[in-house]
Amino acid sequence: MSLRSAFDSPERKRAYNRALFTTIADRYDLITAVLSYGQDARWKRTLIKMAQVRPGERALDLACGTGDIAFAAAAKGARVVGLDLTHRMLQLAHRRQGYGGQAPVGFITGDMTDLPLRSASFDLVTTGYGLRNVPDLTLAIDEIARVLRPGGRLLSLDFNRPQPALVRAVYLSYLTVVGATLGWLLHRDPDTYRYIPASIRRYPGATGVAALLAARGFTNVRVVPLLFGLMTLHLAERSR
Ligand SMILES: C[S@@+](CC[C@H](N)C(=O)[O-])C[C@H]1O[C@@H](n2cnc3c(N)ncnc32)[C@H](O)[C@@H]1O
Repeated sequence: MSLRSAFDSPERKRAYNRALFTTIADRYDLITAVLSYGQDARWKRTLIKMAQVRPGERALDLACGTGDIAFAAAAKGARVVGLDLTHRMLQLAHRRQGYGGQAPVGFITGDMTDLPLRSASFDLVTTGYGLRNVPDLTLAIDEIARVLRPGGRLLSLDFNRPQPALVRAVYLSYLTVVGATLGWLLHRDPDTYRYIPASIRRYPGATGVAALLAARGFTNVRVVPLLFGLMTLHLAERSR
């Protein structure tokens, strides 16, 4: 499927994502560190710090990938489930767990827009670069609201979509050039990492996501800008 048609419908976006992340899974951690100039680990530490994880809490990390956030929450004493659409990502997460030294996490394959989990069964939901990738953002937010107990917290880390047109154009052009070069060098396919700017272009960005959270049953919605506002942390609470 071409990148151009990946956004034509929720089904296409889901299928595109699964194929894309299966392709890049084995290099994902390295590429993320390179593309973020090493900042990704720091942003995730900030997320975990702001999540104020308490021992024994039930936590769900959505789009968990190879498990960075899930393992960090588990290290704070939470009982963590990690969920991802891509089987290969979860195999790598399992392998990390097998190396030892990681607090235990339960991993399940699933879609953020249709969670195979009981309502009101989590105190905390986290996601790193998850919301931008879902086939339907409103459905994903509704599912997060459903599985959180009243008063439960959501923390989401993702790219922002800069509002000033000039900043957005320069930023997306930069990501397109870097993404195309990396995609060609690593996979002989420039579209591989051009997906990032393409998905940002179609994303409502920090203020849009905050408005949607407020409209779909969350209170105390906060937007924390990172990297001069190019990245964002959202914090919100499920209404009581
Ligand atoms: C950019 S990676 C982020 C991985 C991890 N959260 C991190 O921060 O390193 C995006 C992840 O979202 C997953 N994903 C994409 N669409 C999804 C969906 N609809 N439901 C669940 N996971 C999804 C992909 O398989 C991939 O592992």
